[in-house]
Amino acid sequence: MPETVTVGLHGVQLKRFEQVVAKLLTHITPRYSQLPSPPHPLQEWKGTGKQGQIEDPVRAQRKQNQIRSLMRCILSLIPEEVLSIETTTKEEEKTYTIVDFGGGSGHLSIPLALTLPQCRIICVDLSAPALTLLYEKAKEFCTAGSVPEGVTTATINSKELQATCISNLFTFHGPVQAFDFHLDMAVALHLCGEATDVALRVAAERQASAMVLSPCCVGKLAGDGGNPYVFQASGQNHSTISYPQSSKFCQLILGTAASANKYNRKVKTSEYSNPAETTNGVVSDRSDWDALAKSADYSSMPETRTPRNAARRTAKALLETDRSLFLQEAFQYETCLTRMDPWEASPKNDIILAWRRASRYSSYHPAKMPADVLCEQDILQTMNHLLSTSNEKDRVQCDTVDWTKEEEDEIRQKIIEFLESQSGSSGVLLFPTRMGGRKRKLIHFVAEQMHLAHWSHGKKEAEKTVAVSRVRQRI
Ligand SMILES: C[S@@+](CC[C@H](N)C(=O)[O-])C[C@H]1O[C@@H](n2cnc3c(N)ncnc32)[C@H](O)[C@@H]1O
Repeated sequence: MPETVTVGLHGVQLKRFEQVVAKLLTHITPRYSQLPSPPHPLQEWKGTGKQGQIEDPVRAQRKQNQIRSLMRCILSLIPEEVLSIETTTKEEEKTYTIVDFGGGSGHLSIPLALTLPQCRIICVDLSAPALTLLYEKAKEFCTAGSVPEGVTTATINSKELQATCISNLFTFHGPVQAFDFHLDMAVALHLCGEATDVALRVAAERQASAMVLSPCCVGKLAGDGGNPYVFQASGQNHSTISYPQSSKFCQLILGTAASANKYNRKVKTSEYSNPAETTNGVVSDRSDWDALAKSADYSSMPETRTPRNAARRTAKALLETDRSLFLQEAFQYETCLTRMDPWEASPKNDIILAWRRASRYSSYHPAKMPADVLCEQDILQTMNHLLSTSNEKDRVQCDTVDWTKEEEDEIRQKIIEFLESQSGSSGVLLFPTRMGGRKRKLIHFVAEQMHLAHWSHGKKEAEKTVAVSRVRQRI
């Protein structure tokens, strides 16, 4: 990487990955949109019976939050005319196919199949034991029209798939790159390392109209040849994708004047090349990329929201921005980046949404989603920490991410209760004094998000508080 930022705020020496993040942030700022919220019962999916099969209640809740976040994205991208199709449509008449790449034991595929009977769901996975577990779980929900006992295969559009007890749920046992079937939407929840990038190529090549990808194990994107567990996409220990993938990141990280034109859509998935490969086939030095990928692969739950981990979250945001740019330039998708709700659903909580441009979007389509203020402040926080030159205005805005989702919800609830008690009149909610500056900032932040008037009240420290109202007024 040509230019390097080595010293951060207050002259602190930056770690290697922080130097890479700092350098990238001077050229590119990851953007987050709010998680879509389509009006459909599925987005409130609560889990059914033994479907979760995760005994630890904390893990089960986290998985449920992951699934609900993905559901919201999936629903926002399914065309309205598909959602309004008669739910009793016969299998051969189902036209919309959603493929869950690396779907494992069906955590996402099963609720999708149960709640979207008008769609066909195919769960693709390498692991036979995971798919066996899926068949077992599906038995709990045997649906009318599902295959008779003992029948295990189904031929759809002259391709063979494995059937399950849920009539619109099928499985494909094999690696992602061997999947050769029509699909409308590709989804992947925590598909390991570069397998996500193989899946997005497979989907793009088969003209998928939309994708919902929540990548994980991004440390495996580092080309650490000495580590036998680096690559899983092919089931073998060799890479099939070169990183970075987008021209912009190739320029910034490798310093090569790479162009997306080098990407050849005609070649088979196993032979894909991308801009990281130079014209003579020699892969440039990517140690900066490796530092970025490894730092982004954190798994500590308590660090999911802390200010001190903001640089790692930003490293992850940058990796997902590279993927998004690649989807745009190589396959002409529109994309946006969003995050699971709450962030604590998983340390791997980023979600990439991709879709084909259309002339009309529903009001909850990702193309219409406003920016996610909290995610963007998180990136500002990193900028303030790493770039000693970032401006004063940004600094003031940034240190507001210092609270939990629960604290934020508690304040929001208090404000909602107050507004409801006012039944249309414009009273002022005056919070107690002596809450401390941090809590006051939180109230300002929540009120701003709710588009309410909010201002400081009281001069001496012991009298200071925050006033919130529909319209600003004297008190
Ligand atoms: C972390 S698990 C996620 C499972 C599921 N999506 C979920 O969230 O519960 C990753 C899954 O991807 C599968 N997988 C990894 N590489 C794959 C590949 N190249 N082709 C197909 N499946 C793959 C693994 O077998 C595993 O079931």
